[in-house]
Amino acid sequence: MHTIHSNDLVQPTLGRMVVDAPYVAEYRKAGQFIILRIDEFGERIPLTIADADKDKGTITLYYQIVGVTTRKMSLLKKGDHLQDIAGPLGHPTDVKRYGTVACIGGGIGIAPLYPISRAMKEAGNRVVNILGARSKDLLILEDELRAIGDETIVCTDDGSYGKKDFVTGALRDLMAKEKVDIVVAIGPVPMMKAVSDMTREPAIRTFVSLNSIMVDGTGMCGGCRVTVGGGTKFTCVDGPEFNGHEVDFGELVSRLGTYRGEERVSDEKHKHACRIGLDRN
Ligand SMILES: Cc1cc2nc3c(=O)[nH]c(=O)nc-3n(C[C@H](O)[C@H](O)[C@H](O)COP(=O)(O)OP(=O)(O)OC[C@H]3O[C@@H](n4cnc5c(N)ncnc54)[C@H](O)[C@@H]3O)c2cc1C
Ligand code: FES
Repeated sequence: MHTIHSNDLVQPTLGRMVVDAPYVAEYRKAGQFIILRIDEFGERIPLTIADADKDKGTITLYYQIVGVTTRKMSLLKKGDHLQDIAGPLGHPTDVKRYGTVACIGGGIGIAPLYPISRAMKEAGNRVVNILGARSKDLLILEDELRAIGDETIVCTDDGSYGKKDFVTGALRDLMAKEKVDIVVAIGPVPMMKAVSDMTREPAIRTFVSLNSIMVDGTGMCGGCRVTVGGGTKFTCVDGPEFNGHEVDFGELVSRLGTYRGEERVSDEKHKHACRIGLDRN
C-alpha cells in the first residue's frame, strides 16, 4: 500500500499526485514509468514518473482524466492509499552530452518530458524546450521547464499564449537558426509522427516515448507490441523510447483504439456505479 501525500487538479482534467514509493524514488531514472493499481479490483495503468524525492521517498505523477481508473484516481485524497506501484519500468532515456537537445512536449507529454529535459541539462547539453498546448490554460510545468532550459518556446494552437503555432513550426524555426543535435518528442501520436517526419531528412536522431496499451509491463502479455524498424518490440521492456524514424505510427494508432468500445462501456458503467461497491460482486 502506498500513502498519498497530495492529489490535486492542476487543470479540470489533469491531476497531480505525490505518493509514497521509496524504492521507485531511489532508483528511477529519466524516461521510466510505473504501473499502478488503485485498489484490489483495479486495472493496471502505466504512468510516467514525472519527479521523485529520494529523501521523502515519494514520486510525482501527472495523470490526464480520460477513463475509469484516472477518474477514480482524481477522487482520492491525502492519506488514502494506492494498492500497488510496480517500477521503475522501461529503459531510461539515453542521456549523455550531445550538444543541443530540442525537448518537445505536447499536452500531458510535457510531464514525462520534464525529468528528461532536466537530465539532459545536467549532462551538459544546451537544452531548448518547445512546449505545445491547445490553449494557455492547458499548459503545464512551464515555470519548471523554463528554470531548467537554456531557452523555452511555448506554442498554443489557439494563440492564447506564446506563439500561435504547432511545436513543429517552432522546431522548424529552431533548425533554421542553429544546429540541433538531438530531438526528444513526447505527446500525442500525430505530433510525435510529425516531428519524426521533420527530422528524418536532416538525419537528426529523434527519440519518441510511446504510450501503447499495457497490461503486465513484463514483456509477457504482448499488449504493448509495436513495430519499430520492421521488427516487433514491446514498449514496456524495449521502450518506452524508440527511434521516431523507425516507428510504425499508423499501427500504434490502430492498436490504441482496440478497446475503445469496452473503455466507453466501462466508463458509462462507472459513472452510474454504486458508490458503496455492491456492483463489484
Ligand atoms: C509508458 C507510458 C507512460 C504513460 N504516462 C502517462 C502519464 O504520465 N500521464 C498520463 O496521463 N497518461 C500516461 N499514459 C497513458 C495512461 O496509461 C492512460 O491514460 C491510462 O491507462 C488510462 O486509463 P483509464 O482507465 O483512466 O482510461 P481508459 O478508459 O481505460 O482508457 C482511455 C484511453 O487511455 C489509453 N489507455 C487505456 N488503458 C491503457 C493502458 N493500460 N496503457 C496505456 N494506455 C492505456 C487508451 O488510449 C484509451 O483510449 C502512459 C502510457 C504509457 C504506456
Ligand atoms: S505490457 Fe505486456 S508485454 Fe508489455
